[in-house]
Amino acid sequence: MLNQGQSLKHLNTFALPVYATQVISVNSVSALIATWNEARIIDQAILLLGEGSNVLFIEDFSGILLLNRIKGISYTEDNSAWYLHVGAGENWHYLVCYTLQHCINGLENLALIPGCVGAAPIQNIGAYGVELQNVCQYIDLLDLNNGTSQRLMVEDCKFGYRDSIFKHSYKESFVIIAVGIKLIKAWIPTLSHSDLNQLDPSTITAKEIFNKVCAIRRRKIPDPTITGNAGSFFKNPIVSRKKVMEILKKYPKAPYYIQPNHCIKLAAGWLIENCALKGYRVGGAAVHQQQAAVLVNINNAVSQDILNLARHVYKQVATKFAIYLEPEVNFIAANGKINPSECVK
Ligand code: FAD
Ligand code: EPU
Repeated sequence: MLNQGQSLKHLNTFALPVYATQVISVNSVSALIATWNEARIIDQAILLLGEGSNVLFIEDFSGILLLNRIKGISYTEDNSAWYLHVGAGENWHYLVCYTLQHCINGLENLALIPGCVGAAPIQNIGAYGVELQNVCQYIDLLDLNNGTSQRLMVEDCKFGYRDSIFKHSYKESFVIIAVGIKLIKAWIPTLSHSDLNQLDPSTITAKEIFNKVCAIRRRKIPDPTITGNAGSFFKNPIVSRKKVMEILKKYPKAPYYIQPNHCIKLAAGWLIENCALKGYRVGGAAVHQQQAAVLVNINNAVSQDILNLARHVYKQVATKFAIYLEPEVNFIAANGKINPSECVK
């Protein structure tokens, strides 16, 4: 049965009061295809959703929201690695816990990232020095138009910082149905992040890193079950060396991270804080007091509040630093995904 005019308040971690015409949860490839075919017959738009932790509905969605809940975690091993095959509808943090419980190390730095495994490749999730691309082996994709599936190996996914081929080259008829993960047995802890680099690599365990990452995240990032948010609203901007030199001249303590291509990443949170925007409010939305890159729903915010706040932040940072922040979250309008940079400028 299809539901009519369903609230999405619990399906977007901003907890915005938005609606979709219908919401359908599926747990198999055949159900995905059947729902897609049914939607074609009644001429309804379809949008894939995991747990709604990286979306901003700028208005109601006029169509079917399809929740991919295909489950299953299985693994094989050889002398050098474990090979996991994970259904797209598994919860990411559950997967991290599952691997550690089975004495499989390698996902500990990615603890507590909300959302489904199937959404993780979309923006190449990353935290504390590890990105999905470091552990991904393949992505299984289904083309709903003809029911065929294909496997993309990691080198074909064009993973980058908060970026992948899935953000650009695949239309809404493509669904990620499973993710292959390879975790090598000769585990080396990743302690490059400044919050972890005081830990001793010769004695630290994966479980200890997991605990440390969970503790830091709980301290820094608001819990979306209490305060609506979508994590970092903006990407950390990648700028030229010249730009960084300009900023460091005035603010010698500004954090920066050198990238492999000689460009440099700045911290959006630092830039926003230095525009004195911490706690700044628009309607029910605000810049988070502890982590300025996070926009929060503090008091019954509506989509327009978040949007207007994001525009204000963008303008202030552009005016003060001549740096043009790019939203990290996916923007959803009545007919589907739209380009966030077109809305926030
Ligand atoms: P959704 O928000 O439901 O969907 C995101 C996008 O993926 C949408 O465009 C959707 O259409 C598409 N999509 C979802 N599933 C599929 C599928 N199976 N096939 C095709 N398309 C699909 N991200 C990080 O990288 N690092 C962090 O440290 C981090 N911390 C966060 C902390 C908080 C408190 C929050 C709220 C978010 C954080 N995020 C972080 C962002 C978010 O957790 C990730 O982007 C996550 O992968 C989103 O998963 P989801 O299931 O909620 O995706
Ligand atoms: N900072 C400030 N003021 C702030 C926030 C941050 O000065 O209000 C400074 C911090 O002091 C630090 C630097 O900025 O020197 C970076 O801050 P933090 O370590 O909190 O991380 P971040 O760069 O803001 C990124 C990711 C997070 C990820 C963490 C940990 C992006 C857009 N965000 O945040 O991912 O969890 O690093 O690796 O890359 C997400 O994508 O949603 C997300 C939460």
